[in-house]
Amino acid sequence: MKVTVVGAGAVGATCADNIARKELAQELVLLDIKEGFAEGKAQDMMQTAALLGFDTKISGSTNDYSKTANSDVVVITSGLPRKPGMTREELIGTNAGIVKGVCENILKHSPNAIIIVISNPMDTMTYLALQSTGLPKNRIIGMGGTLDSARFKYQLSTTLDCSPADLNAIVVGGHGDTTMIPLIKHATWNSIPVTKFLDAAAQEKIVNDTMVGGATLTKLLGTSAWYAPGAAGAALVESIVRDEKKLFTCCVSLNGEYGQKDICLGVPVVIGKNGWEKIVAMDLSADEQAAFNKSADAVRSMNDVLKTL
Ligand code: LAC
Repeated sequence: MKVTVVGAGAVGATCADNIARKELAQELVLLDIKEGFAEGKAQDMMQTAALLGFDTKISGSTNDYSKTANSDVVVITSGLPRKPGMTREELIGTNAGIVKGVCENILKHSPNAIIIVISNPMDTMTYLALQSTGLPKNRIIGMGGTLDSARFKYQLSTTLDCSPADLNAIVVGGHGDTTMIPLIKHATWNSIPVTKFLDAAAQEKIVNDTMVGGATLTKLLGTSAWYAPGAAGAALVESIVRDEKKLFTCCVSLNGEYGQKDICLGVPVVIGKNGWEKIVAMDLSADEQAAFNKSADAVRSMNDVLKTL
């Protein structure tokens, strides 16, 4: 297997680091536009191989896409990150051009690649990747819900004082501070509804803290987070290259599912060797469906901005 991570910044490098440590690929290419940067990160990571005992061969490339040829999976992290006080949506003007260009270059050399989009605003960048490449929809996966669901489990686990690994909890809808929908009524602690242990105020706090999870970190760090976004990208790569068929919430093209079409939005999907292989239907309450529709409206107006660029 060959995997490329485009963008050697904090998210891309963390994603690559996770891919290497788990030996998810024989060959891993890190690409960046900044001269020598990806080469430096790749060399630094390769120098951990003797210590960590992995076999993945990591190389770096300054914008030379021929080095990425025949990649099975490509993770796109390029673009500007958020600064404190900024929404993900404010990045659209700059990042749309970058993501479109990256997709074109990637497909020239890896026409069969499955593409994972991390760049923000993630829902719109996923939609853009799909529209601009014309690839079969199953090969374009937006990472957002995977990260947001992990953050939701973090918030639940700290309140319940339990292991995050024992939780089943997902966030659907958009990957924006006001568009994501942590489905707390469906969340369980090893099959026991978490709502049994949480009063209304505690539930509301967990949901709100999850929704602003990224913004909270941006404020603390001065830029957007990277450990969980990078790990979320690598978890998707793992499910693809090992054909695990794990269920993740990802931003995918909807064609009537969950009442929406002509949009990419976060829903539960099976991730395997063909990319996202199927959308899993869940029964949303009227309130949850209304929130999903509202989220779709917001993402759709962001997608409309693409036409003006
Ligand atoms: C975050 C960015 C990666 O939520 O969207 O941290």
